[in-house]
Amino acid sequence: MDKKLQIDLQKVPQHVAVIMDGNGRWAKGKGMGRIFGHKNALTAVRETIQSANEIGVKAITLYAFSTENWNRPKLEVNALINLLLTSLKKELPNFQENGVQVKAIGNTNSFPKKFQKVLSEVINATQNNSKITLTFALSYGSREEIVNTIKNISKKVVNNELKIEEIDEKVINNHLYTFNLPEVDLMIRTSGERRVSNFLLWQMAYAELYFTNVLWPDFRKSDFFDAIIEYQNRERRFGKTSEQIETSNE
Ligand code: IPE
Ligand code: IPE
Ligand code: MG
Repeated sequence: MDKKLQIDLQKVPQHVAVIMDGNGRWAKGKGMGRIFGHKNALTAVRETIQSANEIGVKAITLYAFSTENWNRPKLEVNALINLLLTSLKKELPNFQENGVQVKAIGNTNSFPKKFQKVLSEVINATQNNSKITLTFALSYGSREEIVNTIKNISKKVVNNELKIEEIDEKVINNHLYTFNLPEVDLMIRTSGERRVSNFLLWQMAYAELYFTNVLWPDFRKSDFFDAIIEYQNRERRFGKTSEQIETSNE
């Protein structure tokens, strides 16, 4: 049976976050170098965006480059940045055609100017698209984001724009890079690793976590739909009892 038909379109997660992992191992398995794996990741990215869009997911966030990834060999870092740059350019018509609004989170200032330029061009060109928000996490680390958030809130306190008593979860949310995104409902990580690697720690507080052994370059629509089906079979209790959830569903 078509997997898509098993999905309840009334219960689709609003925001899906993906840790795209396993490119290096995929390439190694083929007797190739790590960069070959990164080069073969674009189909997976495309299919993920398409399948999310098809079922009405409103926001998808892809972990493309972490603050820790700067510690990889320079050759790999440069190759990753170049691949991201060419893929962004290449995919722009696709984004326009499918109503994809592109955003970025992270310390994007640390990328070369050339990359920053292309990124802001794609962001500007797609800003009026409204079917789905696609956020790339680029030089992103949750701890860096939290440090940045605390600094910005502190500045407001010092400048008397905000009182300490006024700081609450909402204020913090509004100062994170993700301020205009809904909470993460589902986090998918490929390649069998079961950790969150400094990704959206605050935003994932109540997300359902889904891990698959599929390596990122092999990830396809049917794998994305598997994750959605599993998500829909889970009971999200948010601290309540199962009985309370059942009565509120009636
Ligand atoms: C994910 O694949 C891509 C990035 C982290 C940029 P990896 O490059 O981490 O691949 P593995 O985990 O070494 O197989
Ligand atoms: C997480 O993958 C970062 C991205 C997918 C961009 P890593 O492969 O860098 O994570 P660790 O180091 O295995 O935790
Ligand atoms: Mg990895």
